[in-house]
Amino acid sequence: MAATLELVEVSKYYGQVLGVGPVTLSVEPGEFVSLLGPSGCGKSTTLRLIAGLERPTAGAIRIDGEVVNDLPAYRRNIGLVFQNYALFPHLSVFDNVAFGLRYRNVTGDEAHRRGGEALRLVNLEGLEDRLPRQLSGGQQQRVALARAVVINPRILLLDEPLSNLDLALRQRMQGEIKRIQREVGITTVYVTHDQTEAFALSDRIAVLFGGRLHQFAKPDELYEQPATPEVADFIGETNYLQGRVETAAGARVFVTDHGTRLVLPPDAGAAAAGPVRLAVRPHRVRVVDGTAAAGVNVFDARVERVVFAGDALRATARLSAGDTIQLTTHNLPETRTALQRGAVRVQIRPEDLQFFPPPAG
Ligand SMILES: Nc1ncnc2c1ncn2[C@@H]1O[C@H](COP(=O)(O)OP(=O)(O)OP(=O)(O)O)[C@@H](O)[C@H]1O
Ligand SMILES: [Mg+2]
Repeated sequence: MAATLELVEVSKYYGQVLGVGPVTLSVEPGEFVSLLGPSGCGKSTTLRLIAGLERPTAGAIRIDGEVVNDLPAYRRNIGLVFQNYALFPHLSVFDNVAFGLRYRNVTGDEAHRRGGEALRLVNLEGLEDRLPRQLSGGQQQRVALARAVVINPRILLLDEPLSNLDLALRQRMQGEIKRIQREVGITTVYVTHDQTEAFALSDRIAVLFGGRLHQFAKPDELYEQPATPEVADFIGETNYLQGRVETAAGARVFVTDHGTRLVLPPDAGAAAAGPVRLAVRPHRVRVVDGTAAAGVNVFDARVERVVFAGDALRATARLSAGDTIQLTTHNLPETRTALQRGAVRVQIRPEDLQFFPPPAG
């Protein structure tokens, strides 16, 4: 049975140092959630709190509704996988996997059956008798996975399990982890600082900065509606325009410090009042040709730089009023020609604009 996991106002201080918090989030049964953020933001601390390897300074951790703050790690029935595998070097693959079973007094035929099942799950049949040093990095990580799931844990926790692997293997193992998680149907929390990995794996992602939870949402929502500028910067690239919202002839427009005037979406609301930062993703800046350029927020721009990135073109353009903007488009011949000519028209649709308060100070 997949478990629910709840963190309620959980925080952890190491002396005076904030590790993480306060964090409130709840993970649905069978859900795959990633903790994402830069180094030191509190990802591992959060995972260690859930595992019971650290005690929260404040708040409650609940598994299936039961507060587990006082439950020691070995009684939480949680499967753990770390970056460095932490396999026992002198034990065979099978004994590494069966280790957790012996701990739970599962031995003999039953241990054999469950160990074999776990090894089949991670595609390691036939390697039972090898020692960890006789395995590749990817195979070692599979052993670590098998060892974590063999105990039928309520929750699976993984802390940057793939960061020691090269890119190709990492991508293959991402697929494997997702398959195994689906097959077992287990509630999973996955730590990574790699947004591509988080996007590939997760139902929802919790984004942390400096110990604070900035947003907990589905991948597309993080990308389209970042809650804070930090999330917008961390998840993909973004353009910022500094300026203020003004009312002209009953309509609200955003006027940049350079003087570019942008029509706002009808639902811009109170978020867009007075001085604001406005953001737009580079791939939402559309290159439009002369005839199709009717519509709002169409600007003449001078192309200052074009970078060929295989199937994409990245360009830096200066709008006629002076704002510099990054844009990304598909590498189509007509777009390439237009960008190389050095003068284009671009459109920034109102619905593609995001608003943030101006930076402090
Ligand atoms: N045992 C500890 N004693 C003191 N401070 C700690 C301890 N463990 C972590 N910290 C601090 O808590 C904060 C969060 O650390 P944490 O290990 O959770 O970060 P992380 O997001 O996992 O980073 P990384 O991506 O580098 O692994 C950091 O400022 C870190 O220095
Ligand atoms: Mg960490």
